[in-house]
Amino acid sequence: MNPEVEIKELIAKINEYNEQYYLYDRSVISDYDFDQLLKRLESLENQYPAFRLPDSPTLRVGGGIVKEFATVPHRYPMLSLGNTYSDEELFEFDERIKKLIPNTLYEYVCELKFDGVALSLRYEKGELALASTRGDGKQGDDITANAKTIRSIPLKIHDSDIPADFEVRGEVILPNKEFERLNAEIVEENIQREREGKKPLTLLANPRNTASGTLKQQSSAEVAKRRLDCFVYELKGENLPFRSHTEALEVLRKWKFKVWEHSRKCADIEEVMSFVKEWGTKRHELPFEIDGMVIKINDFEQREELGFTSKVPRWAISYKYKAEAATTLLKSITYQVGRTGAITPVAELEPVLLAGTTVKRASLHNANEIERLGLRVGDTVSVEKGGEIIPKITGVILEKRSAEVPDFQYISYCPECNTELIRREGEAVHYCPNENGCPPQIKGRIEHFISRKAMNIDSLGEKTIEVFYEKGLVRDLADLYFLKFEQIRSLEGFKDKSSENIIKSIEASKEKPFQNVLFGLGIRFVGETVAQKLAEYFRNIEALAKANLEELQAVPEIGEKIAESVAAYFQDAASQIMIQKLKEAGVQLSATETAKTLKGNQLQGKIFIATGTLQGFQRDEIKRFVEEHGGVYVSSVSKKTNFVIIGEAAGASKVQKAQELGIPMISEEEFLKMLE
Ligand code: IVH
Repeated sequence: MNPEVEIKELIAKINEYNEQYYLYDRSVISDYDFDQLLKRLESLENQYPAFRLPDSPTLRVGGGIVKEFATVPHRYPMLSLGNTYSDEELFEFDERIKKLIPNTLYEYVCELKFDGVALSLRYEKGELALASTRGDGKQGDDITANAKTIRSIPLKIHDSDIPADFEVRGEVILPNKEFERLNAEIVEENIQREREGKKPLTLLANPRNTASGTLKQQSSAEVAKRRLDCFVYELKGENLPFRSHTEALEVLRKWKFKVWEHSRKCADIEEVMSFVKEWGTKRHELPFEIDGMVIKINDFEQREELGFTSKVPRWAISYKYKAEAATTLLKSITYQVGRTGAITPVAELEPVLLAGTTVKRASLHNANEIERLGLRVGDTVSVEKGGEIIPKITGVILEKRSAEVPDFQYISYCPECNTELIRREGEAVHYCPNENGCPPQIKGRIEHFISRKAMNIDSLGEKTIEVFYEKGLVRDLADLYFLKFEQIRSLEGFKDKSSENIIKSIEASKEKPFQNVLFGLGIRFVGETVAQKLAEYFRNIEALAKANLEELQAVPEIGEKIAESVAAYFQDAASQIMIQKLKEAGVQLSATETAKTLKGNQLQGKIFIATGTLQGFQRDEIKRFVEEHGGVYVSSVSKKTNFVIIGEAAGASKVQKAQELGIPMISEEEFLKMLE
């Protein structure tokens, strides 16, 4: 097929699938087939860039970095809305309108007040020309590149009769599911960070802040990864042929913008009230957050007549739903032991209906939070579900506290293994220190061991590990290698095929390099990079296990804290037994030389860095050469560096650092002599 035609057809096809998915929630093609089409289009566009069209879906993946967003003036100011919080205030709004346009029949339109970030979209000749944020209402930031990654914003309007230019106003939101997915990723990452002794990342506060933060990212490719969405609610322009809001919404729908499908035309304020009430309950089923309802005069001429106050339109108002709260009994406080031994207290509540769901539990985070709230078991507490998705306890109703409720005592012993808890200096969270005997911690370590970046045993998951542990088949991660097909097959829910897959992928993991095994052991503070450094330096587990603190700290980038943790791990009897079992199983406990064939060991244990241009080596070659002869190559000078190889036009800062630290500087010839 002619490439120009094929590109055109592919764009039309993919855009149609996108529309079905992002506008109407319909999945009409498999992800795989969709990706194939997109890949084909991408490759054709790369081959024939001249045929790329302005609404090509390949433009949605982002790319490029914007250092600073340009400030752009708004053609029409971006105003805010007046708020009402009660039925009376809503009736008063209607009274004001009645007075301002007496003896006139008017209608309202009710729609959602989306809780996101306002966006203005300018279209010129039917193509998206500018997307800007609200800013101060008069001017905002040009975030066009970021907005283009949002699949529900059309890049080009396909219609026979489009106004030369117009603006569309809408709200960028982050669907709840996506918000939860992002936070789950952070939780996952924090488990890892905790193992590595890094500070945990803070969870995202709510979908709105996340949407706002995302839109202001400098890299549009990053924005594309977060599936933002955009609902539109206003159409603006000079001499547009639409006479009412409902007409405008209809045409926006036709132009493939996302418009809320349940917006309602109401003949009077009573009808508005009942619609607002109806959605007061139904709003909890929406897959995104809202901030209330917006009530707007439908007719554009009437809107003009009503005009604006200094800040807000007189023809529209928002009705805010109250954050839902309830009171209930705090029956007890239970404790969860996390995979890293962290203890989380949980409030067990008398079930109560809140924001459309029954709430039975709420997280209390840590002992400080319980103290801050002054909680006692048996108290009547207030529970709220506001902007956040997880319910929280906001206070105690002290008047309802009976004289008998005793003071609250936080636990001192682990609820899973009865070990005395510890609280590390400066931390709010209690920990169970029984790493090798506390079931959730053992299971957590096995889960870490099988994870993608460690042994990548993908036929196993959290649930299978749970079953294996409960049945007594695995007690530490090395036990995985001694599992028998029959043992797995005899468990409920395991068929021939799945049991075989498990055995196979455990077997295959024996090929994983030493550094993966080392990372998989879950030694505190030993993340991926540290594991790699240790594996490269010591080359096998015996040498590593034998190393004292000084020797460990000789490794580039390994400080006191990591060294102590590694040494403590290998001194522990349980670790020693487990490593022995891993050895028997045939897991890689020494570094193989597949990637770097060792040509000699003249540089064994020596740490090098080169600066400037060398005669006989390119940048990467010297690194490989040092490593091929048993040495370690680093990227910055530190007191652990043994030699700095000085080339032509050597870097002044590296030379200075070497001088300060008294590290020998050698020429390329002197370096080569070391090999003789
Ligand atoms: S109309 C002149 N409709 O609420 C009135 N705004 O408080 C223009 N918003 O900045 C706004 N949903 O970001 C309108 N259906 C809706 C809305 C909506 C959310 C936001 C918008 C605006 C703010 C005003």
